[in-house]
Amino acid sequence: MSPAGPQSRAVRKAVVPAAGLGTRFLPFTKSTPKEMLPVVDKPAIQYVVEEAVSAGITDVLMVVGRTKRPLEDHFDVVPELEANLAAKGDSTKLALVHRSTELADVHYVRQHEAKGLGHAVLAGKHHVGDEPFAVLLGDDLIDERDALLARLVEVQQTYGGSVVALLEVPQETVNMYGCADLAPDEASEGDDDVVRLKGMVEKPDPADAPSNLAVIGRYVLSPAVFEVLENTAPGKGGEIQLTDALETLAGMPAEAGGGLRGVVFRGRRYDTGDKLDYLKTVVRLASGREDVGAEFNAWLGEWVASGFDTEQPTHARPDAPSAKA
Ligand code: UTP
Repeated sequence: MSPAGPQSRAVRKAVVPAAGLGTRFLPFTKSTPKEMLPVVDKPAIQYVVEEAVSAGITDVLMVVGRTKRPLEDHFDVVPELEANLAAKGDSTKLALVHRSTELADVHYVRQHEAKGLGHAVLAGKHHVGDEPFAVLLGDDLIDERDALLARLVEVQQTYGGSVVALLEVPQETVNMYGCADLAPDEASEGDDDVVRLKGMVEKPDPADAPSNLAVIGRYVLSPAVFEVLENTAPGKGGEIQLTDALETLAGMPAEAGGGLRGVVFRGRRYDTGDKLDYLKTVVRLASGREDVGAEFNAWLGEWVASGFDTEQPTHARPDAPSAKA
């Protein structure tokens, strides 16, 4: 391990891009960003902010688009709801309402046009300034028992430069991701989850992929990324791609804020970016919940045993009030 470099200023800020069009979730995303999709009872974005806070982040900048309103409302106070719950003495629900407001210092910046993830990150330039910062995407959820972001921060503080989270995926699916092109790295030999990247390839053909390590939605970036993004031409789909900027950073010298490492994540990650993965995520997280898990799992067992019989009539829970009552 090399000693901490000059760029190792503490990581205090996170940029959370939430301005994508979310076309895979239409019609929901007509008026609400997909980051507001509920995962059991919390919007995905709250899991993400909670994760950032548990990694030591105190300041969160959300990059928002046309449908920003529900996001802003979720992290704001709601006086009439709070007064109502306080009057009823319902401190449990009141605490749930307060939690999202008190989590972190949340700021907003508008991305006027959805010109890509790189363009969204660039919108954070003035807020972030000259310090390393985290980027968290709202369609990747990391289990709270797996401290991935905290590990990325630790690795960035040790080696400087920028750090991405990598997940080993089956070779045949590598064409769905940005893929890491690895370089030898003597400096990180003692850290078996750390690799150095000489570049990245966006959605490679599995036969030509340089590895099966896919980039997932957690990053700790050097502020040098902003200048690189300003000079990154639109890539795939006419969008300014963060992957292209990371590729440039990987080839830049450490003195200029360059260098790119990856942390290979071996924990639990839940994808909410498309309908099928979102449904799997909700089921998995509901199964493990203390409040509804046991009952949900019992029902799920019966549902599976029925052979997913969508023809059968539904019936009320035995403890539910009778329709006639
Ligand atoms: P995605 O590519 O998954 O989001 O972006 P999308 O484009 O909204 O989704 P589809 O493909 O149309 O369904 C990854 C993350 O980057 C944000 C998204 O909100 C998401 O969290 N993003 C993407 C922006 O903030 N701005 C953009 O211009 C693009």
